Amino acid sequence: MSANTTTRASTFVDEKRLAGRLAAMARIGATEKGGVNRQALSKEDAEAQRQLVDWGNSLGLKPSVDAIGNLFLRLEGTDPSAAPVLSGSHLDSQPTGGRFDGVYGVLAAFEAVEAIIASGARPRASIDIVAWMNEEGSRFAPGMMGSAVFAGARELDTVLAVADATGVTVEKALADVRESLRDVPERWLGERAAAYVEAHIEQGPQLEKEGLTIGVVTGIQGKRTFKVRVDGEAAHAGTSTRAERKDALLAAIAMVRALADALHDAEDIVKFTVGRFDVKPSAPSVVPSSVDFSIDLRHPDSQVLQALGDKVRPLCEAHAGVCAVQVTELSTAMSLEFPASLRGLIRDAAARLDLPHRDILSTAGHDARYLHPVCPTGMIFVPSHLGLTHCEAEFTSSADLAAGARVLAEVLIELACRQAVTNTMRSLPLSSQCSLD
Ligand code: GLV
Ligand code: MN
Ligand code: MN
Repeated sequence: MSANTTTRASTFVDEKRLAGRLAAMARIGATEKGGVNRQALSKEDAEAQRQLVDWGNSLGLKPSVDAIGNLFLRLEGTDPSAAPVLSGSHLDSQPTGGRFDGVYGVLAAFEAVEAIIASGARPRASIDIVAWMNEEGSRFAPGMMGSAVFAGARELDTVLAVADATGVTVEKALADVRESLRDVPERWLGERAAAYVEAHIEQGPQLEKEGLTIGVVTGIQGKRTFKVRVDGEAAHAGTSTRAERKDALLAAIAMVRALADALHDAEDIVKFTVGRFDVKPSAPSVVPSSVDFSIDLRHPDSQVLQALGDKVRPLCEAHAGVCAVQVTELSTAMSLEFPASLRGLIRDAAARLDLPHRDILSTAGHDARYLHPVCPTGMIFVPSHLGLTHCEAEFTSSADLAAGARVLAEVLIELACRQAVTNTMRSLPLSSQCSLD
């Protein structure tokens, strides 16, 4: 493949088209303050998936959905025996999420594929645009369910049985979404992947601060998540004495305070979050009978993360007092580094396109984490205004979003044209079967 600028797929990336599709998706589950609420497997998520399939149909892409609800749109390659190159992210959002987290990666892949088609390139391997099921883990915990099951890191049946706060299981919610995608065929869960590239907003302020457009993601910091259940006893707020009470809320507060103190570091690298705190029965004149709370703990050094996470259970138990406590670890993900081969492809593409770039560690989690052990995986970041994310104020300029899609188009066409994709692929010749006319 020659780097002929007139046929280079990236030149067909259309900033306005990409911005238009992002705006259309942002209308699905739009919140009052300009964000989105499109929680996994909700009717808004189903509507977004339907929209993606319809756009794919108009481009001649083949949709499919696997048993855990990951949605794929395929640009067929010329060699049916070649494993597909995957690119995407997620369509679900946090309850007061932004308009770019996740959906940008899906639509950047869509834009890149549309550009590849327009350039006349005939990739050897198929390119699958993918929308992973439940990345955020807001409605069903933990997150990244779709990519984890795809990668064989979690059991399908265990994940299908997970219920949301109202008791609706993933299996039931998935069946409802499938209803609106009746025309989309099933895809085998164990299908191979040759490589995976995910574009995403940075979700931090670094690129913007330094006036850079592209982040070549070096890896993802580790994360351990837990759910904690504290059981006390409901009692009358006026008649029960302090000595008699088993106040689940006071016990839970003592646990959170002890955890925050123990996980405090002067350098401000440890990330400790209790984002959910459900008190039952939540009545002003009843002593709380139970509390369920979540713990999200992150650190870039896996050994430190391991040691800090190991403190969670003993600390909760030590502060339970007269209440009972149950600590369940939901997910354990150590820090990882993406292969130099893919980082090199991304860096080279950014340089060819004259886009200012630098290496950057992702402190947020991504589906790419689960693809990393499965196939060569990489990520492309674009700037996030002020680093604001997981909130309605999330913003990235259309020009930066298009720049990321251009890098992605170049990387995807390279990957899909190679004879084979391995961790040493930079030394491999490009396929002569990949035509660019
Ligand atoms: C992803 O959404 C994360 O919480 O890191
Ligand atoms: Mn995301
Ligand atoms: Mn997110």
